[in-house]
Amino acid sequence: MLVPWRFIIVDAERATSLCDRLCDAFVEAEASSDAGAISKMTARLRTWLIGPPSIVFLVSCPNTGASIPECEQVFAAGAVATTLLHAVAARGFGTIWLTGWPAYAPQAHEILGVKPGETVVGLFPIGKPMKRPAERPRPRVEDLLTEWPG
Ligand SMILES: Cc1cc2nc3c(=O)[nH]c(=O)nc-3n(C[C@H](O)[C@H](O)[C@H](O)COP(=O)(O)O)c2cc1C
Repeated sequence: MLVPWRFIIVDAERATSLCDRLCDAFVEAEASSDAGAISKMTARLRTWLIGPPSIVFLVSCPNTGASIPECEQVFAAGAVATTLLHAVAARGFGTIWLTGWPAYAPQAHEILGVKPGETVVGLFPIGKPMKRPAERPRPRVEDLLTEWPG
């Protein structure tokens, strides 16, 4: 059976340790960066990881030996991310699709146990929303549509 995605779940008890390890790894990796960039990322990691009861890391793990194109397997893992957003909302909880350094850096992969050939699709802190997120500009649907001219 081809299931080219998996989940790494971090509960609140382990989130502090994960956050500390990611912050340390970021500080080490970015030793030459300015202090502002380092404190911005470490603050971001704390906001994302400390507080929610659970954090899900969704991992794309394509089977390169399968007959299904690898890009399709990656798209399927992306679709799981959207399904996860809806499933969490349907249960009355909140989440957000996040990426950036903790999703892409090899140092973060090592800490999380993400293997070679795998990609982190995103991390999803899950909990009771504290406030409604601000609305943002949305694209006009018409701008996204092209009619095939035949
Ligand atoms: C692939 C992907 C990666 C994202 N990464 C981030 C991120 O790292 N930080 C962030 O604040 N928002 C990120 N977002 C955006 C939020 O997930 C999203 O804007 C938020 O949930 C509000 O939903 P909206 O898209 O309906 O406005 C990302 C979205 C996607 C699809």
